[in-house]
Amino acid sequence: MKLFDKISAFTLIALSGIFLQNSAIAQGANVWDGVYTEAQAVRGEKLYQERCSACHGSQMQGIEEAPGLIQGAFVYNWDGMPVSILFQRLRETMPLDDPKGTSRKIKADILAFIMSENSMPAGTRPLPYQNSQLKKIQWNAQKPAE
Ligand code: HEC
Repeated sequence: MKLFDKISAFTLIALSGIFLQNSAIAQGANVWDGVYTEAQAVRGEKLYQERCSACHGSQMQGIEEAPGLIQGAFVYNWDGMPVSILFQRLRETMPLDDPKGTSRKIKADILAFIMSENSMPAGTRPLPYQNSQLKKIQWNAQKPAE
């Protein structure tokens, strides 16, 4: 191999690496990539206790008709779907007794806390509350294999 060929082969590999990285971002993230911040989950915990825990339990364990929001059925209910679908459910129906009384921003903080309770890691950017952004994040019940 001539030196020039070696260089261009190397460039090609390096460029395809960059391309793959970019296309992964364009396709969007999943909930295991760190899609909320620690501070947001801390805010969300307080808001969850105020607005959700009476029905879903202080540990998210579920009480009577209100299901648990950790592990099991809950995480699998939304498996493979964009987070926007779960968020829409919160926006339109929760808290069950007054869904309009809680803003999108607060619901995003609460959802960040729900993620953290389900062992999904925090990252550097807050979970957005815009549909167009939430559509790009996929909910996976389990961390996808690398
Ligand atoms: C007055 C009681 C009540 C309050 C308050 C309440 N919920 Fe619920 N929630 C329920 C009930 C009952 C269900 C199941 C039946 C239904 O969906 O209507 C449910 C279902 C859910 C589901 C679907 C669970 C699944 O397995 O997919 C989510 C998510 C949820 N609630 C989140 C919240 C959040 C977040 C809050 C606080 C902002 C909240 N709820 C406040 C009663 C409540």
